[in-house]
Amino acid sequence: MTIKALVFDAYGTLYDIQSVAAITEEEFPGYGEIITQIWRIKQLEYTWLRSLMRRYQDFSVITRDSLAYTLRCLGLKDDPAVFGRIMEKYLHLDLYPDAKATLVAMKDRKLAILSNGSTDMLNTLVRNSGLDRVLDATISIDSKRVFKPSPETYTLIESNLGIPRAEVLFVSSNPFDACGAKAFGLNVAWIERVTVQAMALACVKSDAVPPLTMFKAIRMQMDELGLEPDFRIKTLADLPELLKSMA
Ligand code: 2OP
Repeated sequence: MTIKALVFDAYGTLYDIQSVAAITEEEFPGYGEIITQIWRIKQLEYTWLRSLMRRYQDFSVITRDSLAYTLRCLGLKDDPAVFGRIMEKYLHLDLYPDAKATLVAMKDRKLAILSNGSTDMLNTLVRNSGLDRVLDATISIDSKRVFKPSPETYTLIESNLGIPRAEVLFVSSNPFDACGAKAFGLNVAWIERVTVQAMALACVKSDAVPPLTMFKAIRMQMDELGLEPDFRIKTLADLPELLKSMA
């Protein structure tokens, strides 16, 4: 298998979406974790709902709306300055610690992001984190006005990079995205950050499951969609080794 390009999902794969928890906790002490989890769960849900309803709004609108939903349902004060400070973190998300070094180590191939993020928010995030110096392309699904895992979104890889799907390795930690990319016909590496065993262990006392564990159970375990990623890796740093084994 010749892999000429590696294409990464952004939120949750290269960028740690859980890194918003510091600011949500600072602004709403005692609520940081539950805000963080409901926000992300609703954000993804809105991408699917809007795609199905054909009522596209870009990901920055969806990210705002899902945060508004979260604060409302928790009965928290809607202060525009606080809201703005939390939203700002989406432009400064932490990279996973191994992200930059791993990308640099694979610079002999084309490297790109394909994300649900809107063009503006993605470009700002990529610039703020310094990945603009490593990536060959940052592709937003915006032009298709539909979100992943719609097959139309994955066509943007070939149309932007000029590399056919058989020569692309798509990397995502989001199970819905790994399944969508596989259904489309890409080679897929899924980052399994929480193993089935660790998950089961964390849920032993089911009456004391914290919001983050719940999130891991519903958004970080492989889905039952009859689609199996080609590769399961534990972390981004496993990629160079995987590429060697494919050569
Ligand atoms: C992405 O970056 C939403 O995490 C997903 O496309």
